[in-house]
Amino acid sequence: MASVTGLDGIVAAETELSLVDGKNGVLVYRGYEAKELALHNSFEEVAYLLWHGELPSTEALNASRKHWAEQRRLPAELKAVLNLLPLESDVMSVLRTATSVLGTISHQEAEWPLDFERILANTLMLPTIIAYHYRRSQGLTPIEPDPQLDHVANYLYMLTGTVPQQIHVKVLTAYLILAMEHGMNASTFAGRVVLSTQSDLASALCASIGAMKGPLHGGAPSEVLHMLDAIGNKENAESWLREELKAGRKLMGFGHRIYKTNDPRAEALRHLMTELAAEDPWFDLAIHVEKVAVELLNEYKPGRKLYVNVEFYAAAVMRAIALPTSLFTPSFTLSRMVGWTAHLLEQTSCNRIFRPQSVYIGALPVSLRNRS
Ligand SMILES: CC(C)(COP(=O)(O)OP(=O)(O)OC[C@H]1O[C@@H](n2cnc3c(N)ncnc32)[C@H](O)[C@@H]1OP(=O)(O)O)[C@@H](O)C(=O)NCCC(=O)NCCS
Repeated sequence: MASVTGLDGIVAAETELSLVDGKNGVLVYRGYEAKELALHNSFEEVAYLLWHGELPSTEALNASRKHWAEQRRLPAELKAVLNLLPLESDVMSVLRTATSVLGTISHQEAEWPLDFERILANTLMLPTIIAYHYRRSQGLTPIEPDPQLDHVANYLYMLTGTVPQQIHVKVLTAYLILAMEHGMNASTFAGRVVLSTQSDLASALCASIGAMKGPLHGGAPSEVLHMLDAIGNKENAESWLREELKAGRKLMGFGHRIYKTNDPRAEALRHLMTELAAEDPWFDLAIHVEKVAVELLNEYKPGRKLYVNVEFYAAAVMRAIALPTSLFTPSFTLSRMVGWTAHLLEQTSCNRIFRPQSVYIGALPVSLRNRS
């Protein structure tokens, strides 16, 4: 039996959550195009859709807004642990640790199937944990969540201490909605594998966060920013990108396992960014780099169909709203947490333990070498 590296093309589950159509560049969440949801709906509405299967009525939305606002505060036990962590700790490691701590203080290990209230609490506390550690690391006092603000505005408020501009909330909301769910990606799969053993929520989420941390998955946006900073100006773009490709290095923000055409999420963000950054020279550089990179990828990697992916324009969004690079992957994580947990609920509803096989290619003992 031949192995399939990276499980490329292997179907591991059926899902009602999202359709990722890589050939036509389409992303659908439970019957709605994600790019439309990103432009017209709130974070709360799309999370509700993924968790419950339908967009909320006005009454349901108002009730969840109130309930959500109450759940964003961190328990004292968690704050005590966060206060012990080194200030220079990487935020993703802090999120993984905090998620594990939440598992110990809420006795999640006793739960099967999952308790939705726990899922909600873990998801809603994530922005507070990020902001808490970020402000500590900057020598600033952490800020309590403001129950009057919606989820995304409150996140920016807890980071900066000021109520954010509406346009900043709009572009960040669009990015977070577009990043919320994406089929059987590495972090979602990691979480589903752990949960399939009937393990607890915290263990599954720690696995997902660990997978998200890697630069080939959730770490790409900050790498994109470093790349654009290193390129510096349009004149430098072609020679810089050529050198990278000649050296056999990957261009961050390009290529995707599923999308073999433009990533619809990148297109939606590019479109939205023109509203915010028409006069931003950095955004102009990003547009130019995309064009040159796609041409060069076609030259150096013909037939591989490498185009811009969501992380490229995610970097543009997060830079435009002045989010520090250390918070790029954590921000992606607070959004993908919705997709992960929706998948975990789906996994519990039709659980069978994941158990793929491996092909042994090592040495055999002498006694077994002549077997047919
Ligand atoms: C996303 C990614 C991990 C997909 O990986 P994958 O499906 O395993 O694709 P592969 O790594 O097998 O790539 C296929 C070929 O295209 C090349 N390739 C893929 N992405 C590339 C990139 N960004 N820059 C240069 N070459 C790239 C590979 O080197 C490989 O070339 P080869 O056939 O000569 O060996 C990969 O495209 C990548 O590393 N991109 C950069 C990181 C990134 O932007 N991640 C965010 C994803 S949303």
